[in-house]
Amino acid sequence: MNENLIQTSSIETVKQYVKEWKDSGATIGLVPTMGFLHEGHASLIARAVEENDYVIVSDFVNPIQFGPTEDLETYPRDFEADCHLVAQMGASLIFHPTPEEMYGKDFFTHIYVDEMSQKLCGESRPIHFQGVCTVCMKLFHISEANRAYFGQKDAQQLAIIRRMVRDLNLNIEIVGCPIIREEDGLAKSSRNTYLKTKQEREAALILHHALTKALEMYEDGERRASVILEAMTQLIMTEPLATIDYIQAVAWDSLQDIEVIEEPVLIAMAVKVGPVRLIDNMILDRA
Ligand code: PAF
Repeated sequence: MNENLIQTSSIETVKQYVKEWKDSGATIGLVPTMGFLHEGHASLIARAVEENDYVIVSDFVNPIQFGPTEDLETYPRDFEADCHLVAQMGASLIFHPTPEEMYGKDFFTHIYVDEMSQKLCGESRPIHFQGVCTVCMKLFHISEANRAYFGQKDAQQLAIIRRMVRDLNLNIEIVGCPIIREEDGLAKSSRNTYLKTKQEREAALILHHALTKALEMYEDGERRASVILEAMTQLIMTEPLATIDYIQAVAWDSLQDIEVIEEPVLIAMAVKVGPVRLIDNMILDRA
């Protein structure tokens, strides 16, 4: 528990602390979030606290990663609860800027990772990853973090951020952390609060069941991606409340399509359960 958690919405204030910490030779971990924190975020913060002298958690619903018809206005927020959790986990500072503080009135620059940003979730969210990369680049610079922590739940985001860091020679280590699940297997997400009825909550388990099926087939020796994806599709179609957005198998480091699973492969899906779009995934990396 950090009783003295620093709370600020000012970039300048963060930079002052960062300077002080860096001057003393300390390491800094960054956990970028959009708030409404749950156990998934807590696990990222715990890992960051373990591995760094100071930890900055950013809590910012980033407007430029939402499309015009997406849930920017209604995205769940609870800053007080977030501060409590961040203090409890032992982080040093929570950074909660306004959109004006982050982007001012005349923001022109964006970071776009070609080839990887229009696939999977990018097909239905064309500006999303450009918004994510741009805000992460800003947060990396503001925090001067040695390491930044991302959940594998957003696997495409993690792969794209790693590629941005590699391609632009950024001096930061990207740490990917495992998906945290509810007891019954549903991947934790702030958007799970949109699952309003008992039927929707139960139907949401179909994503995890499909991944379990894929893993069983893989462990039985199946290596043809199309056969595994077809079995997952058939299973999900048995759930009346579920509509598939995509289910794909791609190379984990480049997100390019693959036919045979013989390198680390990401099996990723987005499925609508009633009105709620959920994502889940698994990485197959054993030969
Ligand atoms: O994963 C998220 O919550 C966001 O995409 C991130 C990385 C905080 C950028 O806004």
